[in-house]
Amino acid sequence: MKKRILSGMRPTGPLHLGHLFGALDNWIKLQEENECFFMVADWHALMSEYGEPSKLPQYTIECAADWIASGIDPKKSTIFIQSHVPQHLELYMVFSNFVPLGWLERCPTYKEQLRELSSRHLHTYGFLGYPVLQAADILLYKASAVPVGKDQLPHLELTNDIVAKFNKLYGATFKEIRPLLTKIPKLLGVDGRKMSKSYGNFIALGDSEKTIKEKCAQMFTDPKRIKLSDKGHPDECNLYSYYNLLKKKDAAGVYDYCSSAKVGCTECKKNLAGVVSDYLASIRKKREKLLKDKGEIQNVLEKGAEKASQVASETMAEVRKAVGLI
Ligand code: TRP
Ligand code: SF4
Repeated sequence: MKKRILSGMRPTGPLHLGHLFGALDNWIKLQEENECFFMVADWHALMSEYGEPSKLPQYTIECAADWIASGIDPKKSTIFIQSHVPQHLELYMVFSNFVPLGWLERCPTYKEQLRELSSRHLHTYGFLGYPVLQAADILLYKASAVPVGKDQLPHLELTNDIVAKFNKLYGATFKEIRPLLTKIPKLLGVDGRKMSKSYGNFIALGDSEKTIKEKCAQMFTDPKRIKLSDKGHPDECNLYSYYNLLKKKDAAGVYDYCSSAKVGCTECKKNLAGVVSDYLASIRKKREKLLKDKGEIQNVLEKGAEKASQVASETMAEVRKAVGLI
């Protein structure tokens, strides 16, 4: 029997190479053998972006477009927008009643986000409940496995704590879920820090060739290679890891010309811009097409919400009965 899988992303900014290698590539593989639900978590986005939501509609549609352009196939997977399936909030409310505040206040991601997103006021009732909504996302579909990066593990542990407490209070209803840890290949942002929207150091899936060129030109290289005649250390250079990931067959050549000082960093950056552009060319074309005439994507999202609602209402019927709502 096919396993049911659910995962999601928050539409808080453009999707970039980190999302492609850190999540999407894995989702694309998973959809071949499993029943997959992929959700644009717009309610979760609103929990941090509520004060400045002007770009939320754009990011939401672009997120779905980027998924499809990268290879998430709407014929194989259910793609939907979280807020189109109101049952997420119903289940979230039921869970909220019995989740102790301490579980949420102690959650490491909560403390970290408060620190990292210090420009937003996140000492709110809603933001504290972030992982409870995430648990509802997962359990509404009775997903057995959830592909995520390591940073999300505390939320999956909390989901299992909720499973145990719900079952204890109301009878066996949910099963434990299993994280499917995605092994994330090393790909840093153009400034050498973790590729992240908040650092503005990413290469977006929709970036133009010109933007890619500019971003590659800014990339940090081996700090020990100052003059053209200095031999480089590819293993210590961010560009080399890009070559390794994006065009393995060029990587050996880069290693050679770098460590023997045959080619300079400026040229190496230009070459890399070409490699990145080529790599993203077909994704860029598909996403542009999807975003130009939004009919196709609207259709996918409508069908996705319908399919998701079906499963969601079955679970909610069971939950309502278990907790005494008539
Ligand atoms: N919190 C996740 C993140 O920031 C996004 C998300 C929301 C999610 N709901 C989910 C991931 C359910 C997996 C399952 O990446
Ligand atoms: Fe990095 Fe390329 Fe310069 Fe070597 S030549 S240090 S791989 S940018």
